Amino acid sequence: MKLNRYFEDPDILHVGCEEPRAYYIPYSDQTAALSGDIKNSDRYTALNGKWNFKYCKSIYKMPELSDIEYDEKIDVPSCWQCKGYDTHNYVNTRYPFPYDPPYVPHENPCAMYEKKLNIKKQNGKRYYINFEGVDSCFYLWVNDSFAGYSQVSHSTSEIDITPLLKSGKNKFNVLVLKWCDGSYLEDQDKFRMSGIFRDVYILTRDEGHIKDFRINTSTDGTISVECDKDAQFALYDKNELIDEAAGARVMLTVPNPNLWTAETPYLYTLLIKCGDEYIVQKIGLREVSIENGVVLLNGKKFKLKGVNRHDSDPVTGYTISRQQALKDLTIMKQHNINAIRTSHYPNAPWFTELCDELGFYVCDESDIEIHGVTSFYGGSQEETFGLLAGDTRFKKAILDRVRRNVKRDINRTCVIMWSLGNEGGMGVNFENAGRWVKEYDSTRLTHYESAVWETLVHKNDTSMLDVYSTMYASPASIVEYFNDKNNKKPYMMCEFLHAMGNGPGGIYDYLDLIDKYDGFVGAFVWEWCDHAIYMGRKNGKAQYFYGGDFNEVVHDVNFCMDGLVYPDRTPHTGLKEYKNALRPIRAALEGKKLTFENRLDFSDISELYDVKYEITRNGEKICDGEIVLPPAAPHETVSAELPYDELEQGEYFIKLTYILKKDMPLVSSGTEMGFDQIKLQSAKPFNVPENRCTVPLSYVENEASATISGENFKYVFNKLTGIWDALEFNGKSVIEKPMQWNIMRAGTDNDRNVINSWINAGYARIIPIARETEMIPTEDGIKIKTNINITAVSMRSMLKLKAKWVVRNDGVIKLSVKAVFNDNKPYKPLPFLPRFGIRAFLPDTYKNVRYYGYGPYESYSDKHIASYIGLFDSTVKEQFEDYIKPQENSSHYGCKYLSVSSGSASIEAFGKSFMFNTSEYTQEELMNKKHNFEIEKCGSTVLCLDYKQAGIGSNSCGPHLPASEQLENKFKWKLTIKLS
Ligand code: GAL
Ligand code: MG
Repeated sequence: MKLNRYFEDPDILHVGCEEPRAYYIPYSDQTAALSGDIKNSDRYTALNGKWNFKYCKSIYKMPELSDIEYDEKIDVPSCWQCKGYDTHNYVNTRYPFPYDPPYVPHENPCAMYEKKLNIKKQNGKRYYINFEGVDSCFYLWVNDSFAGYSQVSHSTSEIDITPLLKSGKNKFNVLVLKWCDGSYLEDQDKFRMSGIFRDVYILTRDEGHIKDFRINTSTDGTISVECDKDAQFALYDKNELIDEAAGARVMLTVPNPNLWTAETPYLYTLLIKCGDEYIVQKIGLREVSIENGVVLLNGKKFKLKGVNRHDSDPVTGYTISRQQALKDLTIMKQHNINAIRTSHYPNAPWFTELCDELGFYVCDESDIEIHGVTSFYGGSQEETFGLLAGDTRFKKAILDRVRRNVKRDINRTCVIMWSLGNEGGMGVNFENAGRWVKEYDSTRLTHYESAVWETLVHKNDTSMLDVYSTMYASPASIVEYFNDKNNKKPYMMCEFLHAMGNGPGGIYDYLDLIDKYDGFVGAFVWEWCDHAIYMGRKNGKAQYFYGGDFNEVVHDVNFCMDGLVYPDRTPHTGLKEYKNALRPIRAALEGKKLTFENRLDFSDISELYDVKYEITRNGEKICDGEIVLPPAAPHETVSAELPYDELEQGEYFIKLTYILKKDMPLVSSGTEMGFDQIKLQSAKPFNVPENRCTVPLSYVENEASATISGENFKYVFNKLTGIWDALEFNGKSVIEKPMQWNIMRAGTDNDRNVINSWINAGYARIIPIARETEMIPTEDGIKIKTNINITAVSMRSMLKLKAKWVVRNDGVIKLSVKAVFNDNKPYKPLPFLPRFGIRAFLPDTYKNVRYYGYGPYESYSDKHIASYIGLFDSTVKEQFEDYIKPQENSSHYGCKYLSVSSGSASIEAFGKSFMFNTSEYTQEELMNKKHNFEIEKCGSTVLCLDYKQAGIGSNSCGPHLPASEQLENKFKWKLTIKLS
């Protein structure tokens, strides 16, 4: 097909398009307008639905418009890759095509869409077709005449089609190209999809209609409106008319205004009438400002407890309905999240409308990412990141993208910050766009993280940026920022806590700093949802594909699955962690009093939450009740009496649960919003029974093993490995293969940068060599002393163990180990250990798990905010957290007791604070399989009893695991095992 090559011309971005404007839908009657439902507007004609569709692999294969035969139909809106055309490709920073701007590959997939529609054309009216999102660019024909061209995938394009429209049947043709010069600016980390993926509609307008208007509010109750036409304005509080005005620039007043915050999303309704048209704009009163480096909302400090959210669905791709968006927003509200960065492009125009109404702060990002320029052979942030940011050929395009975002959402209360884009590098083009934003809108803040990257060729001017923004910075670097008094700007993390797979760990490492520094306005977790493609079911599970599963030439494997929720929106344990870390109240014990800190910025917690308490002794509930919170202003700490008098023997905890007591947007009363658990008294809650058996043990030994027999058991000790080969109790084998020393784990996504060094260091193929084993019979049993050297083929010693095993007359086994790791000078130190412990394969009839430790969720040294110490009953099956990319999961931290049992037999463990894991799968299986639908059970219950595992961290895209979360070089461990 012959085309004007606008799609390779960064000077021609839009042809025949209207100037970008604030989003609104006109109505022709007041009641319909006030209903706020666009379906009630006779000025709105949806073009969604089935369209004729012709897909071609290349524009050179597309016939001329008049010759196209359509034998397929497609839904509008949708992404064509989700409908079986073209192929999916997940790629992060790299361009999925050769870099040759502004040109794109000749092999440029495209599709022609066709829709026929009857329209009664009315005199004196104008008709505008609106596209809210088309990836990557499109050409429009109306009744075979060219009507316009546009790009910027996630922005609205509006084209006046009045002259081309006729009364009766009309034909609309839209040619969509997969790539255009704009694709160089849309290199966001996502599956790359194409098509008309958002709504398409025609607006019928009066001649001389309003084009654009702009609202500003202030906390004293004034609302000013600037309009490009004279109009009449009426302001409503709910249904009550509170003010009126007429003109092009007017001022309206709300007496005693209810201010808007994410906690109190109070909206007023502005009705605008111009000619026969009505426009309704909901508006909240709020002011954002910065004072002494602190961001204020309505004059008060507040914090952004945020997430980054993509439009993403495993079935519908970029096409997101209001219901889907509402599902996300509902889960966010239920998890105490109050802020969203629209990474990395504007969402549908109604999305921010929902945020206004439901109460979310929005960092509204322009449709820009140019990350691929750092990924060429030899590229880097320092050297090549400014390639397009400073290329004046793209100056207009970058400004256009930023302007379209700002202009469309200018009347949104929730938008408190404009983001110039993501990872575009820094250069004159962004400085220019940033200056434009500051000039156009002084009422909001500006953000652009890439400004922290300075290239060798350009000295950055960041004067137009209000916040200093980073991603994945280490906690130490944040402290450094605040220690340097030259840093005057508020600090924000547009991305932190990379939530990939099992993680994030170490949430408080950041949240504590947000608390500590008033200038730290908050942070956004990367990211909200896992991106994957649903491919039907297999082996009883949803089959999700990720990068590489589509035979892509370049791809980034499972880096797209780094969300707080699974693709189907099931929360990850990481989301539960984040929720409780963001709980609205924090309790502490001060002497004999409980204190409650109000963690909200604008509400009195006593009006919103009931506090329920439960006291446990050794994990058993002994009483519960309610604590009445005294009134507590934002950030105030109040106190209440402890609801008990005397404690008996035992380990006591009080758990305080915060329950919403009135319905709030998207969260109903009765919902648990978080909890605190406070220890009241320490004790050893589970004791190994005394050795009452006086029947002495007998044993036979040879060079390699020792068989120990007691009243009802027979254990075989392997003198070459220093651990048990067989444990037989009551005539039944308790272990199905020899027990193992274990220092490896199935790498989590957060282990991705260290796992290869673990593998290279031999941790997955250790050879334990025991020597100097001594058998020492005593009155109570038998003591075995042995020295074990843990090593591997072609490795020196990694870990030296001095182990002491005691078998009591009653069969109880006691282990104590002294371990020395990394004692290998002058050689390079080995990478930190993933874990240290023992592994047993129990018969799979050992299905039931009872433990006293951090549960009920998987818990680790740096990931147990959602869990609390309790006595939990579960099953091996239930324990499994089914990550799409299989990995270490479902261990428990801080345990003092464990029992794994079949109906009749059990193995119990007692210790001071151990970790354990039970699974139907081996760590090797989890490590070797790419998808959860591929993993196979091993036929045993795999029991890992660990001294410790390394923490989880967020190193998949964040700092290294801090030393404090790693295993020490020297440690001691004691554990008791009892069979019955
Ligand atoms: C950031 C980027 C995100 C995402 C993340 C890694 O650098 O802004 O879009 O790629 O890294 O998951
Ligand atoms: Mg990127």
